[in-house]
This record gives sequence, structure tokens and C-alpha cells, in this order.
Amino acid sequence: MITDVCEEGKGAAIANTYFLQADTGNYVIDPACGKRRLRQIKARLPFKEYDVLLTHSHLDHSANSGAPLFINSQVICHPLVAGKIDNLERNYTDITAEMVRVFGVQGFFGRTGMLGPTMIKLLLGIQKLSPTLFNCLLYAVSLAMCRSKVGRIYRPTGNVTFLREDQLTDICFENTLFRGWPISKNLFALETPGHQDDHLSFYVPERKLMFSGDLISFLNPNDILDGSLKETYTWMKKMLQLAEAGGINILAVSHALPLMGKDQVIAYLRSVIAKQEEAFNTIAKIVASFPDKSDFDGIIAKVYAHESKLMKKILKINYPRSVSFIDVYVYLYLKEYVNQEIGKEMKTTALYTARQING
Ligand SMILES: [Fe+2]
Repeated sequence: MITDVCEEGKGAAIANTYFLQADTGNYVIDPACGKRRLRQIKARLPFKEYDVLLTHSHLDHSANSGAPLFINSQVICHPLVAGKIDNLERNYTDITAEMVRVFGVQGFFGRTGMLGPTMIKLLLGIQKLSPTLFNCLLYAVSLAMCRSKVGRIYRPTGNVTFLREDQLTDICFENTLFRGWPISKNLFALETPGHQDDHLSFYVPERKLMFSGDLISFLNPNDILDGSLKETYTWMKKMLQLAEAGGINILAVSHALPLMGKDQVIAYLRSVIAKQEEAFNTIAKIVASFPDKSDFDGIIAKVYAHESKLMKKILKINYPRSVSFIDVYVYLYLKEYVNQEIGKEMKTTALYTARQING
């Protein structure tokens, strides 16, 4: 394993890279991003021939997957990555654009203090004057942010294997049903959406070893385009079910150190699920107290002012794209549990401005 995690209990921004020797092949799981990680992988590769497994297309897991180091490997990923892999930059540019559309200029740049009132006013002015110029500016800024945080994006091209939708099959371990693909006799790619729709976990049943990517994370999902609260909860619970049935002895997560031993794995899964439930119930209560469910700014202000320990901790975790995880979480809650059209109906300053511009 290569990790940026410095001590137990702490997380890291860039995903762990794992090396796996399985029954019929060698694998690099999530080559992550950045030159430094590529150098580390090269220096520590324990095998000469290997393929690459991607848990999902988020850049902190996948941006290095097309690097020269992997030119002789197959890059194996979920079929839905196919629509994203030609533009891995989409992870930054499209997601940023969507967040600004949904949260507004003030909400996206202002809420977490990324920009001051003068800059926000200037941006709103540009948006009003020329939406096209505003969008170009947004693209350039988010691309610059992407380059500085993620580094160069190496798109895998000729050597990508998308697992095939028509070969997706039911796979059962310890009476726990998954959908997925056998990669070999003793290695399986399992669909575990929620964090993102193209998310896979990789499972080695013989060793009771699960690579769970970003599925088991503090406050999940945080992807405004492809995340789902319902799916996250379903698949987190499924992992717990498998662990409780004795199916996971090592849980190799992406942004923390792996959990070793059945009891530790179960305790960790339960604690993450409990945090999810607490956050969910808090948001549900706040939303229920609002007669106008489309008042996103009002709802989010009440969420930010919530006094619970958990909410204070959540608010300290800022998205690399500057907006707090909780903004996305509330938006997805409204979309999935209150009104599927919420994205179009929310009342935020920028949406109001955009509507005025668009007539
Ligand atoms: Fe992710």
C-alpha cells in the first residue's frame, strides 16, 4: 500500500494505492493522482506485469491511470466510466459548474469564505453581463484548481477495459447478494454505487479482503452529479451485512488506513453508518421544519447553525472545490427525498440571477 495517511485515525486527500497479488494476476488498485504518487508507485511496484483496477473515476483515484507506467497494463473499470474517461477533467470542470449553478456564486464561493464580497460582486456582475464569459471564466478557474490540486491528468486510451453491462451478474458471498463481475476465480468487481454511480469495490473472498474505495467515508456522497444518498446507505449496509456474516477480515478503504480484523471492521462500518444516520436525521428534521422546501439558502443556513458535535465536525471538512460536503448532501437529500426537480426550483441568489438573465 502507498498512502498519504500519516497516523491512525487521520485521513488523506489523495486515495491510497494498493498492490494486490491475486490468483491469476497482479493489480495496482487506484493509481491516484500526481507526479509524487507515480514516482512512489514506480519505486515500490512489487511485480513486473500488472493491470490497473479503478474503484471509480474521481481524479484522486484515477488521474494517473493513463500514465506511461501503465501503458502495458489493462485499466479495468465500471462501464459508466466510459462516458467520463475521455474527459477526466470533467471531475473538476463539470462538477464545479454544476455546484455554482445549484448553490449560486454566493453559495459556492462565499459560504466557506473562498472569495470576499468584492470578488463575489464582480463575478455576479460578469455573470449578469455575459453568461458565456462567466462560464468560460469558471471553466478556466476550475481547470486551474484541478491542475494545482490533482496535477496532470493522464487519460487511459487504448488499454481500457470497461466491464460489460451485459455480463453483470448476481454474486453471493456469505448469503449477501451483490451484482458484479468475476475478474478471476478469486477476485471480484462488485457494484457499490452511492459515492459515485461508477463505483466498484474489489473483493478477494479467499482472503476476506475488501477494497471498498470511497464507499465507506465520513459523510457520503459528496458528488453532486453522480452521488446518491439512497445508494450509499444501501451499499454501506450491504458491506456491514457481509462483515457481520464473517466475510471481511481486512477492509482496505481509500482515505484512511485499512481496518484489520473482523471486529474492527464491523465496529468501523457501524460507526460510519451511525454518523450517516445522524446526519440524515438532522437534515430531515431541518427540512421538515421548512414549509417551503425550495428555500435552499434558508435550509442551508439552518444546517450551518446547527449546534450538534457531528455537524460542527462536518462543517470543518471542506470540499477541495471549496464547498462543504454538507451543501452537496443537503442538495441530494432534497433531490432524492423531497422533490426530484429540486435542482430546477431552488431559490438561490445565482439561480435567481441566471433566470433574470435567461428571461
Ligand atoms: Fe471519490
